[in-house]
Amino acid sequence: MNKTILITGGAGFIGSHVVRLFVTKYPEYKIVNLDALTYAGNLENLKDIEKADNYIFEKADITDAEHINKLFDQYKFDGVVHLAAESHVDRSITDPNAFIYTNVMGTANLLNAARELWKDNYEGKLFYHISTDEVYGSLGETGFFLETTPYDPQSPYSASKASSDHLVRAYGNTYGMPFVVTNCSNNYGQNQFPEKLLPLFINNIRNNKPLPVYGDGKYTRDWLYVVDHARAIDTVYHNGKQGETYNIGGFNEWQNIELIKLLCKQMDEKLGREAGTSEELITYVKDRPGHDRRYAIDANKIKNELGWEPSVTFEEGLSITIDWYLNNEEWLNNVTSGDYQKYYEKQYA
Ligand code: NAD
Ligand code: DAU
Repeated sequence: MNKTILITGGAGFIGSHVVRLFVTKYPEYKIVNLDALTYAGNLENLKDIEKADNYIFEKADITDAEHINKLFDQYKFDGVVHLAAESHVDRSITDPNAFIYTNVMGTANLLNAARELWKDNYEGKLFYHISTDEVYGSLGETGFFLETTPYDPQSPYSASKASSDHLVRAYGNTYGMPFVVTNCSNNYGQNQFPEKLLPLFINNIRNNKPLPVYGDGKYTRDWLYVVDHARAIDTVYHNGKQGETYNIGGFNEWQNIELIKLLCKQMDEKLGREAGTSEELITYVKDRPGHDRRYAIDANKIKNELGWEPSVTFEEGLSITIDWYLNNEEWLNNVTSGDYQKYYEKQYA
């Protein structure tokens, strides 16, 4: 095997799609998936590839520097694709410290371990940091986030991700660490934990429960199918220019309420319900504190320089996603039992 690559957060939503893509597309690489298996990590997401010869799982917490150093020493990684993070904005509002420990300190621990292992020869090494468009803050009604847009994070989540982005670039500038950073828009697709808008609403429609729309519902996000994000990560890992930042997005902006109406329409059709049935579940609730009004990515740099673009339309991706949740009720029932119920009651009381 000609390369050993560490993927952190590989049991989570996006990470599991990245692990699958790398394990199946590159049999010559050894892929080590490091994940602490928090509430968001689920090895069921990787059942289909868990026995592959080039795949290894390591349960570890990136805030545990000693354990991380040991794993770098053991595997002598050539590259790191870093996705492990606390990722849900609402949780960062109730418990910011968990985000600061994992997203900031955890990233620092990985950078220190990579630096220690690679410091004598950076040739062929890469630290790839996966970040979010939320670091740029909120847009008005027009305009797009560019790679040069100044950082202006507004939530504890985005502030912790912004800090980690700065650390990665600082290690590049100060120690010569070879790195790339990508900042992506909202992902959707199979295996997403049902705390995020789309899977939460799919699950609630399935169970005839209210659909809690924050504020006036006119907040705007740019949606990208998760498999296309994984393809973009593969492209940047192999062809991106070191020291560069690439924005990744779906060229696909939706106001929440319009997206929710499209979801309701597709769900009614798939569940054989009368048109308009699911829309009746829409319930406007108290807004998220500090809610960013609009995100929109200009993804022309990665498109023009690296030839990546989304492969499915939003209607297609949404339809595939709904089908997956309806056909994987066991997965959904498992992740929505126990602690999820407590979280739900607290968040939506
Ligand atoms: P997720 O919450 O589904 O998964 C996160 C994974 O990280 C889980 O498997 C969890 O167990 C693991 N993890 C959490 N804390 C850890 C720790 N201390 N040590 C080791 N593992 C730990 O998140 P996601 O939506 O798949 O996001 C993955 C990455 O992509 C994050 O860095 C996030 O900021 C970024 N991102 C997400 C989106 C999105 O729309 N979901 C968009 C842009 C960027
Ligand atoms: O933009 C990228 C980011 O997208 C990622 O960095 C984050 O990890 C990811 O969680 C996501 O953040 P958002 O806050 O945009 O996603 P979320 O699914 O929580 O919310 C999407 C929109 O829907 C947002 O405007 C808030 C709204 N919303 C969300 C929930 C959970 C509701 O109206 N009701 C809800 O119950």
